[in-house]
Amino acid sequence: MKSSLWRGHVLPFFVLLGLLGVATLAGDYLLHKFNLVWVGRYMGIPGTLLIIASFWYSLRKRKYVTSGDARTWLKAHEFMAWLGSLMVLIHAGVHFNSILPWLATIAMGVNVISGLVGKYLLKDAREHVQGSRENFQLRGLSQTDVEQAVFWDAVALDAMAKWRKVHIPIFIVFAVLALGHIFSIFLFWGWI
Ligand code: HEM
Repeated sequence: MKSSLWRGHVLPFFVLLGLLGVATLAGDYLLHKFNLVWVGRYMGIPGTLLIIASFWYSLRKRKYVTSGDARTWLKAHEFMAWLGSLMVLIHAGVHFNSILPWLATIAMGVNVISGLVGKYLLKDAREHVQGSRENFQLRGLSQTDVEQAVFWDAVALDAMAKWRKVHIPIFIVFAVLALGHIFSIFLFWGWI
């Protein structure tokens, strides 16, 4: 059954995005309350590492690595990217000193939103593919109906391909800005 647009897509989208906002504010509040603001300064590192680790899914999908179930890795990708973004957002805090890291943060925010859009597009694509397979296997539909089902598969998959054309460039902008920020901080700390 195709889930309703509201319950299947819009609501979970805003719940995940809202949770990110609420958890950021709570994390920032707790760090300030317990005088641990310095911890936030370093939280950029595990946050960035988590985001990098989440790319294991991209390697698995493109078969650069072959172990593990791709669907499980996709779930891990979503979770790690979400948690990593949360850590980076807490790290960003409410300090405004320089423009570059804030541009990186905005790009990361756009990236997270685009990722969530992709998550629900994929859900649609799966439902369409599943639907047409059932048509084929169980119902023995007429040629026209089969063609229609196949058409929907194509549309759904085409939407995914188009989405990827947006999501990946957004990610590249985010990565370049974040690297610029990280590079300048490491230079400042004398780590490079
Ligand atoms: C290895 C990872 C990272 C390290 C070591 C790091 C380090 C730092 C440090 C030391 C500061 C304080 C600078 C200051 O007080 O002037 C800072 C601020 C900040 N960082 Fe990071 N960072 C990392 C990753 C990131 C990423 C991935 C983002 C965003 C996508 C980000 C966004 C910010 C923002 C928005 C600020 C506040 C800038 C301001 O005060 O105006 N950081 N970071």
